[in-house]
Amino acid sequence: MADYRIGILPGDGTGREVALEAQRILDTIEHHTNQGFEQTVIQCGGQHYVETGEEWAEGSFEFCRDEADALYLGAIGHPGAFLPNGDLAGGSVILGLRSGLDLYANLRPIKLYEGVPHKVHGKFTQIWQPGMVDMTILRENTEGLYHSLLRRSADRAMGRTPYEPPEMTFPGLEGEIAYDPRPISENGSERLIRMGFDIAETRNGAPIDGVKRVSCIDKSNVTRGCQLFRRTFDKVAADYPGTELDYGFIDAFTQWLTRSPESYDVVVTSNMFGDIATDLGAVLQGGMGMAASGNIGDESAFFEPVHGSSPKYAGMNKVNPIASINSIQLMMNWLGRKNNDDQLIEIGSMIDESVADHLRGGRGLTYDLGGDASCSGVGESIATRLSAKLQERF
Ligand code: IPM
Ligand code: MG
Repeated sequence: MADYRIGILPGDGTGREVALEAQRILDTIEHHTNQGFEQTVIQCGGQHYVETGEEWAEGSFEFCRDEADALYLGAIGHPGAFLPNGDLAGGSVILGLRSGLDLYANLRPIKLYEGVPHKVHGKFTQIWQPGMVDMTILRENTEGLYHSLLRRSADRAMGRTPYEPPEMTFPGLEGEIAYDPRPISENGSERLIRMGFDIAETRNGAPIDGVKRVSCIDKSNVTRGCQLFRRTFDKVAADYPGTELDYGFIDAFTQWLTRSPESYDVVVTSNMFGDIATDLGAVLQGGMGMAASGNIGDESAFFEPVHGSSPKYAGMNKVNPIASINSIQLMMNWLGRKNNDDQLIEIGSMIDESVADHLRGGRGLTYDLGGDASCSGVGESIATRLSAKLQERF
């Protein structure tokens, strides 16, 4: 049993509301077990920037890097809040941490719980049964098309000289040119892909056939970076002979993801493709309110709901806290594995069961799932279920 130091970064808009529900889950665990969570709240984001002139207080990055055992982030993004150089205000938090802490894997599970209507066809038509959508998309998180923005954000977070991408000259490219280089490295690809194969070992395979399968999603028919990514995939795959290999181009993948989600188990892909594909994937699990994520490196990690700050709902106690609560589930799993703390891994599963129990009832759903329950009401219901389970078990 240990005391873990958790940095809580609520951020903007509804991020602040769902962060409270994440904290409620940490408090619940602490109350019923010997696990201790020392929570440090750090105000940050675009609204904070508008109000104070800084994205977060000086020393915040260093706290996240040197002091915290794990981090939670609500959401970043405030309407009209940009830095003088045009970058997203609050970018030093989300992108600065991804790059500055070398959080190279963005883990995004996509699972349809019983009682949750997925969102294909705009209406709540139930095409797939729960259990038919259960995959994890691993998005490379430190390079690719985000490279320059990630570097600028990390430089700001760490007080380094701002990065500028190299000038490009080419006949015909004249006048004002906006240029986003997309570097993809063997090392960056390898560590992500390896994590994908390792995760497949811990899962039950794809819903359709129970086969452990890792899908490499790229655009290797067109780009050099993707060719390197696919070559690296084949190299790593040789170490995992028991896992089935699957390949797809990102454009075709968006079709297959929607048409036959049940055949996917673990998917590895590059940064921007993963950004886009996971928003599409969220549709299969009931929308962004259900989509949790972990930004994971070898030393540090932060966990965040995939949804944004949804400013139009801010302060209304209305949005779905489950993405946020499930991000704490991922945090428990990561902290448990990193610290050889099996109890935390078990607690992660108990959060999952508490969410599943809540949803199975089909009552107490937030507006995005067709109900009218409040954010805090859903958070409270899940925390109560978790309390009972913890009490019984520990
Ligand atoms: C995400 C978001 C971010 C991204 C934005 C807020 C910069 O869309 O986490 O998916 O593009 O990575
Ligand atoms: Mg995104």
